[in-house]
Amino acid sequence: MFPFFLSPARMGGSVGHIAAAVACCAPARSAVCALLLLVGMLPAAQGQTPARGAPDHAQRLQQATTDPALEAKLLRAGRTAAAVCAYCHGEGGNSTKPDVPNLAGQNPAYLLEQVHQFADGRRKNEFMQGMIKALKDDEKVGVVMYFSRQQVLPHTGGPPALVAQGKAYYERTCFRCHGADGLGNEAVARIAGQQVEYLTQTLKRYRSGSGGRINPLMAANTKLMTDADIQAVVAYVASMP
Ligand code: HEC
Ligand code: HEC
Repeated sequence: MFPFFLSPARMGGSVGHIAAAVACCAPARSAVCALLLLVGMLPAAQGQTPARGAPDHAQRLQQATTDPALEAKLLRAGRTAAAVCAYCHGEGGNSTKPDVPNLAGQNPAYLLEQVHQFADGRRKNEFMQGMIKALKDDEKVGVVMYFSRQQVLPHTGGPPALVAQGKAYYERTCFRCHGADGLGNEAVARIAGQQVEYLTQTLKRYRSGSGGRINPLMAANTKLMTDADIQAVVAYVASMP
């Protein structure tokens, strides 16, 4: 029942506890899937460190920049956990699914913030919320660190006229925070080369203000965008190297 790369034998070790969750790979929409998820999560949830005693993830990520032994330990944990993520986010975090984001080359502090948003429900995605809960503390920090260090693979751009239109829009507003190159910074996401469908959905979610994903800066910056603006900006952003 498991695809080859998710076979229990290959998963083994520390990520075995999330195998059950990924057995129902499509984002968990069916009731059966939701159930599988829940069952898969139970042992992990019980084994989690209580929030009170949990180490500060951001501090640990920072600490690893000056502590090579800790860095190596976290990267090991991260690489192992990443095998599970690869089914959706792609090998090395280069997604091949248009509605699943690339994680490769993403800013680690931004990724960690998203992990926390999924964990406490500020960002809503049924599957990802369960997945993050199943990760141990060092897997959360390690997996973020691992993906941030992977290369973004070359990709093709959209129709040139649309890309040019999107570039003009981008250079009026988006560049202020995401940078002229779309690489962002510690707090702001890298968006260069991100998946088309994911970008489109994400911008519409910020714009709608319906609570799936809330950020005051992005709400303000999408409020006045038309669907055509979104389509053009997305074509440009997705084509950035
Ligand atoms: C079943 C498919 C699936 C698997 C497996 C999966 N993800 Fe995801 N992930 C998604 C989808 C879909 C989204 C986009 C959710 C949304 O639109 O908010 C996402 C979003 C994310 C984001 C937010 C990225 C951003 O740019 O804001 C992070 C971080 C993430 N996943 C980490 C992981 C990690 C770490 C693993 C493995 C432990 C993992 N995911 C496994 C489907 C998956
Ligand atoms: C004032 C600063 C600011 C401006 C201007 C801005 N952004 Fe953002 N953007 C952010 C921040 C901060 C985040 C992370 C928000 C979060 O945690 O959800 C973000 C997140 C995003 C994301 C989600 C990335 C991901 O991986 O899920 C996309 C897509 C995005 N911005 C696109 C744009 C586009 C397109 C524009 C121009 C129309 C724009 N942004 C303008 C600050 C800004």
